[in-house]
Order: sequence, then C-alpha cells, then structure tokens
Amino acid sequence: MTLQLPADSRILNTDFVFGVATSSFQIEGGQDSRLPCIWDTFCATPGAIRDGSHGAVACDHIRLWPQDVQLIKALGVDAYRLSIAWPRVMQQNGELNPAGVAFYRDLLSALKAEGIRTFVTLYHWDLPQYLEDQGGWRNRATAYAFADYADKISAALADLVDAWATLNEPFCSSYLGYEIGVHAPGLKNKGWGRQSAHHLLLAHGLAMPKLRQNAPQAQHGIVLNFTPCYAETDTPADKAAADFADQYFNQWYIKPLFDKAYPECINTLTADEQPQILPGDFDIIAAPLDYLGINFYTRHVYRADAAEGFVVVDQAGAPKTDIGWEIYPQAFTDLLVDLHRRYPLPPLYIMENGAAGADHLVDGVVQDDMRLGYYQQHLLALDTAIRQGVDVRGYFAWSLMDNFEWAEGYLKRFGIVYVDYATQQRVIKQSGLAFRDLSLSRKG
Ligand code: FCB
Repeated sequence: MTLQLPADSRILNTDFVFGVATSSFQIEGGQDSRLPCIWDTFCATPGAIRDGSHGAVACDHIRLWPQDVQLIKALGVDAYRLSIAWPRVMQQNGELNPAGVAFYRDLLSALKAEGIRTFVTLYHWDLPQYLEDQGGWRNRATAYAFADYADKISAALADLVDAWATLNEPFCSSYLGYEIGVHAPGLKNKGWGRQSAHHLLLAHGLAMPKLRQNAPQAQHGIVLNFTPCYAETDTPADKAAADFADQYFNQWYIKPLFDKAYPECINTLTADEQPQILPGDFDIIAAPLDYLGINFYTRHVYRADAAEGFVVVDQAGAPKTDIGWEIYPQAFTDLLVDLHRRYPLPPLYIMENGAAGADHLVDGVVQDDMRLGYYQQHLLALDTAIRQGVDVRGYFAWSLMDNFEWAEGYLKRFGIVYVDYATQQRVIKQSGLAFRDLSLSRKG
C-alpha cells in the first residue's frame, strides 16, 4: 500500500517540509547528568502510569542517537522535530550544563551533516523537578526561568537550528497536569490549571524576543494542539455545550496569541478559579510569530448536561485508533479552515499527526494498515484545507518511532518505526516505508 495525493497537491512541492517528530522524555532515557523532571516523579507515583513504566531508558536515544539519525535519513524526510530536555541542559544554579549542551550539539550537527532540517521545541513537558518544588507552572517565576533557559540554550545552539518552538501543547501541561491531574505533576485544581496556562503562555511570550535576538536567521513559534468540538445535535443546548468546550480546551490557548484576551468562558470562572493576569501580560504573550505549529489527532462530540454543563459523547461504532481516539479526518480540514477564518495566522506547520496501533513484528515486517489508512486520509484532509486557502508549509508524522506514551507508558505505539524495547532494535513499519516513498517521490 502506498500514500497518494493528487498530482497538483501543494504537499508534493519540494519546498513543502516532510518530517518526523519525537520529544525528549519520550525517547531519550535519563541515565546521564540530566536532573530529575516532573515526569520522573510522576512515573514513581503508584498508579500514575498504566503499565507502571518510566522514562529511565525509553528508546535509549542518548546512546543510540547516531543510528537514529541514520534512521531519519533512511526515511527520506526533510526535517526532524525534537525537543530539548530543560533539566539536561540547565543546572539548578541557572548555568548551562556543558555535558547536556554537548549532547544536543552533537545530535544537531549530525542532522545538519545529513542535510536534515532541525525543528527544536524547548518545552515538551519535562519541567525540572526543582522548579515544580517551587510551585511549577502555578508560580509566575517559572515563566521567567523558562525565558532564561530559552535565552541560554538558543544562544548555545543558534547555528544548528532552523526553527524554534517555545512550548508544545500548553493545554496538556496545564489542563492535564494541574487541572485534572492525569499528567505530571498530577495536581487537580481548576484555578491551578487556568493559572498554569497563563504562566505557560507568558513564558512563551517572554522567550520569543530572546530567540529572535539569538537566532535571527531561524523561524520562531509555538505548537498548539486542537481537538475540534462538535455538537451531538443541532439543539441550541448541544451547540452551546460544544462551543463552551471549544473555548475552554482550544481557543483558550490560541486567542491570547492573536487577540490579547481569553475567550468569554473566562467569565464563568469563580474568583478562585480566575487566573491572575498582570497589566502588560497580553502584550508579552502576543509577540509576533513566524509560524504556528498545529498538532491534530481526533475530535470530540459534545452533549449538554444538566449537572456537568457538557459531556463528551462516545462515538460508538466509529473507527478508532488503539488509544481509543476516533478517526475523523474531516475535523482536520474543518479545524484548519476555521482557524484561518478566525485569526490572522502566520504560516502553519502540522507538527504532529498520527495514530496508535496494536503493532506486531512478524517475520521482520510490521503490517500497520490502520495507521497507513490514517495517514492517507489525513494527508488528503490537509490537501483539502490547503486548497481552501490555508497556508500550510509542512507536515510531521508523530512519531519517528514507538516511545513512552505518557500516562499510557509503553502500551501505545505511535511510531512509523517499530521499537523492540527488549533489544532496542528499530524496524521501519509499512507506514514508514510508504511515508518514505511519498517524501522521496517529491524529489524525483
Ligand atoms: C501529543 C503529544 C505527544 C504524543 C502524542 C500522541 O499530545 O504532544 O508527545 O504523546 O500526543
């Protein structure tokens, strides 16, 4: 099976960026001079991770990175999106950790030597534990600590990075981490969730001018995730429920970047739940962006609920991936067209898209047809959005390889490359081969 697009698709242009993505905690392993992060602590909490696993070894990328660079090359892609582990490159005294910086310099240099463009995210959820001990993202000082880290590491790596992203999915860091507690640091408080979101966005805004100053030749932006919200029926109550959910889960993170305000749902929060916003914060947050990164996986359908306000309605019988997320590619088109209408967007990059599959290695082959179908449908959905005027410049598959899937541990496989965790052997899945063929077909 192959991946196919109409011959006139912009996605097939050689200047459209094809890439694969990972993040530090999910692949690296932590047995070096890296300091503990909130995910180390969370993994040690009984019951927090479904299979009781942790990130101490993961894909052992800190040792195996030279072969992983060759793997990325073998996939024929233009670019690699990785993240930097803040606790690996910064010491508690605020100085860079030379060993940690050397690791990323070596990795990025090897990628450059192979002609692979580098997209680097500064925060993909691995907050140093010593900062969490001081309140983590509930504490405004963490936003300033982030800006300092961003300043120092971008100066140290400026010559090796094509595009910087401040944050990955602040929704997950704040809502999942501080509001409902299913991710690190595992706290459950609505006000903390909203306050953390504000401090994360502030951290982004404080870091942007530093990145621009240290790396004027690179592109700078942020990566947000969206789960589009649909009403179960056309009744005003269900439509209002879906609209509220959209404001609360999606627009909360993008609206301040362009409109210098939170969505109206902020008015439903009690005084305790309201984030503290200081004068001037929105001007910092709305720093100009060179690009916006978008992560998309699935949609949610909502119904009005007397007790909860809204509830998610399971789409029984609909196609789903191995993590239970509905496969609904139309939402990908709808999302991009909707964002394009609402906001004065810079160019977009799809920084994550992909599917979890119950993959098996049989006679050296991983026949992941469901994932291949997912990629086929979502590339077509993206093509449709581009034809409707949305300016998308690149697409990154999540993920390069199977890895530590947060609260699901190693139970869910998102890679286009299979990882045998017992031997650390990597095997390109059928989806990976198709992705490679599509990417290479553009180069003739
Ligand atoms: C996203 C995360 C990424 C990965 C995928 C499946 O929310 O950014 O690290 O876990 O989901």
